Amino acid sequence: MSQTLAAVSYLGAAILFILSLGGLSNPETSRRGNLYGIVGMALAVLATVFGPRVTPAGYAWILAAMVAGGAVGLYAARIVRMTQMPELVALMHSLVGLAAMLVGFANYIDPAAAGAYAGAEKAIHEIEIYVGILIGAVTFSGSVIAFGKLSAKISGRPVLLPGRHWINLAGLLVVVWFGWRFVGSPGVAEGMTPLVVMTAVALLFGVHMVMAIGGADMPVVVSMLNSYSGWAAAATGFMLSNDLLIVTGALVGSSGAILSYIMCRAMNRQFVSVIAGGFGTEGGASAASGGPRPAGEVTAVSALETAELLREAKNVIIVPGYGMAVAQAQHTVYEITKFLREKGVNVRFGIHPVAGRMPGHMNVLLAEAKVPYDIVFEMDELNEDFPATDVAMVIGANDIVNPAAQDDPTSPIAGMPVLEVWKAKTSIVMKRSMASGYAGVDNPLFYRESNRMLFGDAKKTLDEVLAALKG
Ligand code: TAP
Repeated sequence: MSQTLAAVSYLGAAILFILSLGGLSNPETSRRGNLYGIVGMALAVLATVFGPRVTPAGYAWILAAMVAGGAVGLYAARIVRMTQMPELVALMHSLVGLAAMLVGFANYIDPAAAGAYAGAEKAIHEIEIYVGILIGAVTFSGSVIAFGKLSAKISGRPVLLPGRHWINLAGLLVVVWFGWRFVGSPGVAEGMTPLVVMTAVALLFGVHMVMAIGGADMPVVVSMLNSYSGWAAAATGFMLSNDLLIVTGALVGSSGAILSYIMCRAMNRQFVSVIAGGFGTEGGASAASGGPRPAGEVTAVSALETAELLREAKNVIIVPGYGMAVAQAQHTVYEITKFLREKGVNVRFGIHPVAGRMPGHMNVLLAEAKVPYDIVFEMDELNEDFPATDVAMVIGANDIVNPAAQDDPTSPIAGMPVLEVWKAKTSIVMKRSMASGYAGVDNPLFYRESNRMLFGDAKKTLDEVLAALKG
């Protein structure tokens, strides 16, 4: 393939990636968005493999790597459960970071690349290598820790070393100092030590940064690492003079940053402190201790009584959370919605930006169950409607409906915007026990006078509610 054809293919792939991002911004166009992404990536891979920079001698290696990587990817995609998606995403970010690191080292020791630059160009190329490996290493180790925390292999509790900001600052100074030595080094033998020391510091920084972050803030960390992985890819693009990698990396980096910003707003965190790391830990009781238990008794209801309340309601808002995903209750939820709507009840869904375990988690599940988009609303769109709502039905959600976020300034989730379900005439919370949610804090909603608890697995209890409604 000629240089020009490869460049045109890269341009086509870049356009397809932009169209893909545009498509993914709306549930109705998201399938098309995915398709654009797939075609764009296929084009990018083909243009690279058959492009001018790969000699036929390399085909066997590339094919072997693609078969091995593709098989692992296919296997992971088939076995992963929807609830494990954030872990898988974190793991994949770690691979982007690892790739950036390895490409950086390979590029540095490659004699052909070393001879190709001189003077200022050599310095620029070395800065590209240094920055690429730096971002790659932070992304790699940070993502591995994020994977550990999300999959509960590591405790979600923030680990705060004494003087941690000073440790980070010292790490930064070491990185800058060795960067200076690296760029000025006459050859690979002299430059390798600063590069290896910086890589070790960056790996430790990634671990330290994510270890210090509390469980409830992990979604922001995942999207922040998503952004970092984009910048790592862009840095690799500069290293390899690959325009498509620069464009794609910048797209991933900036869209990850925008998503982090949106999620920060949804969780009332400062974007700057997220970027600096070690956030979400100030003030309040530690997430695991949960602070004092709210006083009072809870009122349990049966599926039959729930059906009664729903049948008598005119306005119902359903708030799904992580538990709906665990129970895979979305299809029954839609059956109940359909039944109630046919009876003239106004049923709507209220979606919190960080409900579940990944951005858009609830929207994906509801779309899968074919819930019409026009009855699915963002938190801000219907939070004011709760006082005029007869029944607010909370299905396997906890943190996102916790009034302590508004009422208790010492709560670990203080300031996080929440769906104000307690303002409805009756709220019904469906969950299996009195256990806390992801943030590990108790929920005073359960003890409110207007609240009812419907205990049990969401799918099983909703099946009973549906049967009672129809019966
Ligand atoms: P959570 O606060 O985690 O609460 C989910 C509740 O579902 C639990 O209290 C659990 O109670 C219940 N549950 C679990 N399995 C169930 C089942 N089979 N049937 C019925 N109930 C079940 O979820 P949320 O309200 O959706 O809030 C999300 C939380 O996750 C936030 O703290 C958010 O910051 C965090 N987070 C979000 C993301 C993103 S991007 N969305 C990513 C990572 C973390 P029982 O055990 O008593 O049943």
